[in-house]
Amino acid sequence: MQTLTITRPDDFHLHLRDGKAMTSVVMDSVRRFGRAIIMPNLNPPIITTKQALDYRNHILACLSEDSGFEPLMTLYLTEDTPADEIIHARKSGHVYAVKYYPAGATTHAESGVRNMKNVYPLLEVLVAQNMPLLVHGEVTDPEVDIFDRERVFIDQVLAPLLDRFQGLRVVFEHITTRQAVEFVKKGPENLAATITPQHLLLNRNALFNGGFQPHHFCLPILKAEEHRQAVFAAATSGHPRFFLGTDSAPHARSEKESACGCAGMYSAHCAIELYAEVFSLAGCLDRLEAFSSHHGADFYGLPRNQGTITLEKRSWAIPATLTFGDKELVPFRAGKECQWKLKQ
Ligand code: NCD
Ligand code: ZN
Repeated sequence: MQTLTITRPDDFHLHLRDGKAMTSVVMDSVRRFGRAIIMPNLNPPIITTKQALDYRNHILACLSEDSGFEPLMTLYLTEDTPADEIIHARKSGHVYAVKYYPAGATTHAESGVRNMKNVYPLLEVLVAQNMPLLVHGEVTDPEVDIFDRERVFIDQVLAPLLDRFQGLRVVFEHITTRQAVEFVKKGPENLAATITPQHLLLNRNALFNGGFQPHHFCLPILKAEEHRQAVFAAATSGHPRFFLGTDSAPHARSEKESACGCAGMYSAHCAIELYAEVFSLAGCLDRLEAFSSHHGADFYGLPRNQGTITLEKRSWAIPATLTFGDKELVPFRAGKECQWKLKQ
């Protein structure tokens, strides 16, 4: 049997939720990853250091003492965030980044930023604190087609931002388009991007295959095959400024299978396995480790993890549903096969 041992990877974009829901999902990430950047879009959002530290304690309380898992907390940027809050967050030693959501762009983004220019003074603080800005890169203008929102964001918001703040480290989260790939490649050293398993493995046909598929609805929305191929080529290229961020975003089945289904796909149960599938398909499994365990840590200025994980090339059936607090969720590839298995 083919096996692959790599340095324990990190997930640089993860939604854990809170309370009973979190208890149901957190171990899926802990088994696979050493650390994860924890997204702050709870309801209410994590806008203060105190909230971030409380949330961190909730996460740690779900884990055994020797889990070794380190949640890397983030602050949710608002137009009212005081500069001192960012300094305070940095000093805490547990907050690693600030997340920019355009107001209304995605799940719990109502308190996000209406106009990037309104937070320019706070971005100066991020530069001074050497703290990365994590960007949900989509415009929210209802006039802009949903499939063009990332491309337009690059021109209207991201390019001017990088021109103005040359010392700001920016992670362009969950990129989905050829334009984003090209922009990151030709961009400065302080710009990187995370890539999700769904944007590597699925194109937008997966939203409508045999009828509408709400469990394939996430934001940014799945794109055309041309874009999937560009993102796939970027991830598997070995380029150091592309790295792993699952954007695993669990929602109860009832919230997804509804008249107004919410955005987000749950992939933590087979995340590293799906990336292994991608690198295997590309014929470059030898590059999985750098993408999953080196590039992100290097960009964030963190030491690489010490331990390892081992994957086996062995097909297994993903359950049709998983427990999610008092409810259930439908995971990525529910009821279908996964080609790689984590060795416990
Ligand atoms: C995320 C969620 O549910 O929190 N949803 C998603 O579709 N990715 C929010 C986000 O990262 O956009
Ligand atoms: Zn996300």
